Amino acid sequence: MNVQQSIPMLPTEEAAKLRGRGPVSSRPYYDPEWWELEKQAIFLRTWLHVGHVCEIPEPGSFIRREIEFANASLLIVRGKDGEVRTFHNVCTHRGTQLTDEAAGKASKFSCRYHMWTFGTDGALLSAPDFERFYVAKEDCALKQVQTQVLAGLIFINFAPQPKESVREFFGPIAAEMEGLPMARAVDFTEWTYEIEANWKLNFDNFQENYHLRFIHPRTGASTIGPENPFGYPTHYGFSGPHRSQTLWKNPDPPEIPPTLLMGYSRGAALAAKDGANFPKTDFKLFPAFHIVGLPPAQQYTHTMMPLGPSRTRGTIRMYWTSEAENASRVFAREFGAMSIRDVLSEDRWAVEAGQRGIARGTIEQVHFQDHEMLLRHLYETVQEKVAEYVAERGAA
Ligand code: FES
Ligand SMILES: [Fe+2]
Repeated sequence: MNVQQSIPMLPTEEAAKLRGRGPVSSRPYYDPEWWELEKQAIFLRTWLHVGHVCEIPEPGSFIRREIEFANASLLIVRGKDGEVRTFHNVCTHRGTQLTDEAAGKASKFSCRYHMWTFGTDGALLSAPDFERFYVAKEDCALKQVQTQVLAGLIFINFAPQPKESVREFFGPIAAEMEGLPMARAVDFTEWTYEIEANWKLNFDNFQENYHLRFIHPRTGASTIGPENPFGYPTHYGFSGPHRSQTLWKNPDPPEIPPTLLMGYSRGAALAAKDGANFPKTDFKLFPAFHIVGLPPAQQYTHTMMPLGPSRTRGTIRMYWTSEAENASRVFAREFGAMSIRDVLSEDRWAVEAGQRGIARGTIEQVHFQDHEMLLRHLYETVQEKVAEYVAERGAA
């Protein structure tokens, strides 16, 4: 199956007609009050990608995730029954953080303060002198956060009762995601960064190619060429709050370094060696999750987590369907991740300079051209979600 079958992918002219043309307010890119609304309307009640099942392969495996905007420390645990659950990393006695470890394996979690001990399903198993408390053990289980897995990816939702499953949330894209190598990944190479920029302004940088020829004249050479100097996508698709685009591929790309090729999956390496003129489709998923390059291109994910109105953390991962069997493969994978980092470091100054400028409030509006329609779609989707939230709050 390919993406054209699940989301209608429209040529630029047709897709652009679906979107508005006018300028939009710049305020949502820096205003702390607007960010508060986005937090309530979107981030505290939308499925958020926080990890991969290969990080917790066995019963008792856990990872800790700090979600600063929600003031939450989370423990994502594979239970003895194989289920993936997420708990607040907060002892139900008097609140102590259960673990400081970023990841590990445990048959149970004991709080170091007074030794209340919890199972991998969050139940309170034992507590010293418990007969002197006047509460039932069942009422002392760890507080849980809604968790679902799709395509090997772990998603959480802070809403106690999310209005849709993660599969419903992604709609037709869910099946596409399940067909990707990341669904079968056993390992990944990760790189994280923090940037002084609003999450939308940062995401927008990865939703348009307008800047490629200026910022990435060297590193962007596989997606820009004389026939398409800006490397504009050929097709755009919209599915609810999500978007995708099919990239134009330079038919005469520069040679890919052998070290980089070695890190690719076999299919991707063969296609890249052929110089195949394959279209590459990217998903820009709501709210801030980006899957780059379906097979045969080497695929990576980019997840952005807002840290405030003008600060964002990004996590880039290249997923692998086998362990690195030798040192040169390990090197090739690291080299691949660092190559992505090099391209992103070319973007960094532009995004941060944009944030500094926009936050001055001097320009009250920003402008999107047709080839920036994915940015406009994200902007409009955020507006809709905030309006829904405000209306619900007004009605309550
Ligand atoms: S705070 Fe955890 S056992 Fe007391
Ligand atoms: Fe860029």
